[in-house]
Amino acid sequence: MKKRLVVFNWKMNPESESLAVELFGQTFDAARLARNVSVVVAPPFPYLPAIARRWNIKSNEERKEANVHLAAQDVFWEKEGAFTGEVSAAMEKESGVTYVIVGHSERRRHLGETNAMVAKKLLGAFEYGLKPILCIGEESREGGDIPESIGRQLKESIKGVSPILLESLTVAYEPIWAISSNGAGGADSPEDVHKVALYIRKALAETFGEGSAERAEILYGGSVTAKNAASFFERTSGEVGGVLVGAASLSREAVKIIEAIDRLEPSQTRLEPGA
Ligand code: PGA
Repeated sequence: MKKRLVVFNWKMNPESESLAVELFGQTFDAARLARNVSVVVAPPFPYLPAIARRWNIKSNEERKEANVHLAAQDVFWEKEGAFTGEVSAAMEKESGVTYVIVGHSERRRHLGETNAMVAKKLLGAFEYGLKPILCIGEESREGGDIPESIGRQLKESIKGVSPILLESLTVAYEPIWAISSNGAGGADSPEDVHKVALYIRKALAETFGEGSAERAEILYGGSVTAKNAASFFERTSGEVGGVLVGAASLSREAVKIIEAIDRLEPSQTRLEPGA
């Protein structure tokens, strides 16, 4: 049975390496106790090596054993060269990273990332064996309908991706209006997240074919808390395989989220492809 994925996106927090190592420690302990949850933590770049060293998660075996993986919050598509300020997938891998968040709405908004750039980043991540977590989501939802912009964003962002890579692709649906730092009125409803997850699955099938589309993982992100986390699994018929958590990842709430999801029935999880 596939484990549910909980991705903690620390964004540009906390303010020091020692706080980062400590915060990681509490998440690490909760992850080690969980049986049905796999945890991914995305700290800022400078903290990655210290965390991997302190918590001994440099090798693949150690990461699997501890049930914890590190993620980077962004990646550049080239391997090396004259690209001031950028970090390559190869460098991230060296720092103990397994996953990478690509195309987060904050990068799209503040740094002008386009779908074409996101597509190149996805390919760069795949080339060096990182698992990309592709973020898509609409600015606002009017009239209750699923906006077409999500389908467009998805299709343009996965341009050039080969179907065999879908096993390693995670699509995070993050409606921008539901992200807590945007002054959101709260999370999206599980019922609407379910509809969007089906829509994403259909768009993947149109691009890659039915069988391949089944292999990608779909997450929900936007004001996820310990209180609502379980509902995104319980009320989405197993279509949602995980959650992407921002603000709540910086406190004890992170531990409570892991515990709440771990308590769920394993049978509510999508079957591992081929299982
Ligand atoms: P939030 O952020 O959980 O604070 O809403 C989610 C995200 O931006 O990834």
